[in-house]
Amino acid sequence: MDKNYFSSTKVGFIGGGNMASAIGAGLIHKGILNPNNVWVSARTTKTLGFWNDLGAHATLKNGEVVDNCEIIFLAMKPHMLDDALECTKETMTVKAVHKLFVSVLAAVTLESLANKLKSIVTHPRIIRCMPNTPMMVGEGITVFCSMNATNQDETMIETLLSYVGVTENVPESLINAISGLSGSGPAYAYLVIEALADGAVKMGVPRPMATKFAAQVLVGAGKMVLETGRHPGQLKDEVCSPGGTTITGVHAMECGQVRASMINAVEAAVKRSNEMASTIK
Ligand SMILES: NC(=O)c1ccc[n+]([C@@H]2O[C@H](COP(=O)([O-])OP(=O)(O)OC[C@H]3O[C@@H](n4cnc5c(N)ncnc54)[C@H](OP(=O)(O)O)[C@@H]3O)[C@@H](O)[C@H]2O)c1
Repeated sequence: MDKNYFSSTKVGFIGGGNMASAIGAGLIHKGILNPNNVWVSARTTKTLGFWNDLGAHATLKNGEVVDNCEIIFLAMKPHMLDDALECTKETMTVKAVHKLFVSVLAAVTLESLANKLKSIVTHPRIIRCMPNTPMMVGEGITVFCSMNATNQDETMIETLLSYVGVTENVPESLINAISGLSGSGPAYAYLVIEALADGAVKMGVPRPMATKFAAQVLVGAGKMVLETGRHPGQLKDEVCSPGGTTITGVHAMECGQVRASMINAVEAAVKRSNEMASTIK
């Protein structure tokens, strides 16, 4: 499956908000998807102008997306799923037989998706994934699992999403746990960037420069971990000279319990995800 394979693939999004933009616009901007083969539906016209400007087909009829596309991303909030599927059923011209659905909905299990999708497709092939918004700039993370999907479906989605980030097939039992890191993680990173920049501003650095350098620190440190394969603790030790400035800064962070805060953040997000999962039938 090379790049050209996807330019003729008809891909749809039910829901045209943040996540659909991160995936769909990310793939269109990279030249992987042909906007002429992309259909997007939403509840209101709020996001449709964005999709029209990209050259995609934007519609208020969810059924049009299912009628036209081979791969359909479900990209609404979890509590909007039932309503979105009802609207889909009402606006489809024929009940679909075989379609591949890719859900990005947090906390909605494969079993629950399979039950709900039966109302609009006889044999739903389902991929449940947990993406994140940096896909918009080609640096995302997606983990996925599947039900009734073929090996070819899995390979196709893994290949497609790999154009906009790291993609891995994982057991469903890990999806919620990983979502507390990769799905919510960009928000944690933005907070760290903002706080580092605040520190630099406090010490007299102009705000735009402080923000740019704080973001580049995270990009650089992330690449060091990924490309050297060295443990982050070892990389940290290597930049902490005895009695030096960096170990003094590290000590200040440890006094602020930064490690416990990060661990707590991931744990809290995963617990919330599990709570949400228990309320969605
Ligand atoms: N944002 C993240 O970082 C992130 C990360 C991982 C997973 N997710 C998952 O991604 C999903 C979408 O999140 P989001 O942040 O993209 O939400 P969002 O920006 O609020 O977008 C939701 C979209 O769904 C549309 N919608 C609502 N009801 C609909 C209906 N009945 N039929 C068709 N479309 C309908 C909305 O239409 P209108 O535009 O007309 O309101 C909107 O375009 C969520 O389930 C979330 O769990 C998000």
